[in-house]
Parts: sequence; structure tokens; C-alpha cells
Amino acid sequence: MTRADKYHIFERKIDSWRERRKDADDRKSCDSVFDKQNLLRIYKLFSDGVIDQFEFPISTGKEGVVFSVTTPDKSRVAVKIYRTSTSSFRDMAKYVQGDPRFKGITTNRRKLILAWAAKEYRNLQRLQDVGVRVPKPIAHHQNIVVMEYIGTDEGPAPEMREVSIEDPDSLSREILDFTKLAYQKAELVHGDLSEYNILMLGQKPVIIDVGQTVLLGHPMAEEFLVRDVMNLARFFKRRGIAIDVEKELKEIRGR
Ligand SMILES: Nc1ncnc2c1ncn2[C@@H]1O[C@H](COP(=O)(O)OP(=O)(O)O)[C@@H](O)[C@H]1O
Ligand SMILES: [Mg+2]
Repeated sequence: MTRADKYHIFERKIDSWRERRKDADDRKSCDSVFDKQNLLRIYKLFSDGVIDQFEFPISTGKEGVVFSVTTPDKSRVAVKIYRTSTSSFRDMAKYVQGDPRFKGITTNRRKLILAWAAKEYRNLQRLQDVGVRVPKPIAHHQNIVVMEYIGTDEGPAPEMREVSIEDPDSLSREILDFTKLAYQKAELVHGDLSEYNILMLGQKPVIIDVGQTVLLGHPMAEEFLVRDVMNLARFFKRRGIAIDVEKELKEIRGR
């Protein structure tokens, strides 16, 4: 099969998938990421055998879209595609500035967004290496991150805000332990930790959305850490659990 034939098959797959998406809003936000450039990037992952077929969008956000996608061996992965036309460029720059891994790229919009996906991929790797439960990183290409699908055959795992929690005390402990592991072993601060960015696989938390996650050396790292722990305290307070923010911060910092 020639490369052109292969691309043609791929295009047909995408088209037929698009036609099956009935919901107008769904379609609109998906179409906005399926521009020519992104199609070519998705095609790269397709021809490399990383992905096979798009199933459905799990989430369509301001900064990107997350899809459930099957693989050639019939398993399932999550594919996050960052929008290259995002309006939050300025906000994003602030997270990459001060990260020595991404020196000198913050003034170029295109490069910044590509760095963002690379950063999310590397943060996932680093967090996984120290034992924080995150989606396993599988591949990244330009503005696309492929990772473990968190969910079951019935559907993607819900966000923590959406579920009823059986044991809020031990759940909050588990998340704080992850925060400490991330800080002490991976030298990372999540930076946007909340009930929106923790998925619940049954009653087990999985930390997601680590594009903005920063190294401890980042000028805002401490500020982000405080905010993360305060977010958790606020959420768990409503579930009858009092998190002592000062005490937990000391514990996380190990001093
Ligand atoms: N690996 C994954 N498996 C299943 N669902 C996911 C996965 N990653 C993200 N999602 C879903 O997509 C939503 C958005 O993903 P997230 O990484 O938080 O991006 P953003 O908040 O920047 O749009 C999540 O809240 C979650 O519902
Ligand atoms: Mg999120």
C-alpha cells in the first residue's frame, strides 16, 4: 500500500467517525481540532501503529480535547490534543517560564504549545516513576499526548467532584501522599490540583492534567503547592474531613 492509499483510508475513517457524531456541539468542538495540520499529526500516530480508531470525545475543553481512541490491538487509550489556537497563551507562558527544561521558547506561540504537550508527557513519566498514580504516558507528537485510558468498558472514569466518596478520610490521605511523593521524589508541584483533575477509578484516585505541573525550582512552585493543598482542604471540608493545611504543607515539604 502506498503512503497516499494509507492516508486515504485514514481520512475515510475520520470522516465516517465525524458523521456518526450527532451532537452538534460535540461536532463543532471536535471539528475545530481536526484541521489539516492536526490531521497530519494524528495520521503520524495512526501510521506508527499507536492508535487505530477514534471512539468519542471524553472532554472538549478550552485548551484541548480528550478522545477515547482504540489501538490496533483493540485496547483503548486517551488522546489529548491541545488546541493550537488557544486564547490562554499568556497564562500558559507563565508555567513554562522558569522551567530550565524549556528554556527560550516562551515567546513563540507555536513552540510554546508544542512544549506544553511535551511537558505534560514528561511530567506523567516523572510522576509515574516515583509511584504517583497517573495515566501511563504512551506517546507524544507535537501537540498530542497519548496516554493510558482511565476508565472501564462502561465509560471513562468520572472526576472526583462527580462521585460519592465512601471513605473521604483515606481518599484525602492518598491524594496528599501523592502530593508528597510528587514533591519529594519527582520534585514537581501539580499546580492545578482539584476535584476536576482527579479521576476516580472505582474508589481509587488517578491524578491527571499535568501540563502546567512545575519543577520545584519554578518561581511559582511554592505558591502553586499552597493553592493545591487549599483546594483539597476546601473539597474535603464539604465531605466532613478537616485538612490542616499548614501541617500538611510541612509534611509534604519534609520540613
Ligand atoms: N487518561 C484519561 N482517561 C480518561 N479520561 C481522561 C483522561 N485524561 C483526561 N480525561 C478526561 O478529560 C477531561 C479533561 O482532561 P484534562 O487533562 O483535565 O484537560 P483540561 O482540563 O485541560 O481540558 C478530564 O477531566 C477527564 O474527564
Ligand atoms: Mg483538567
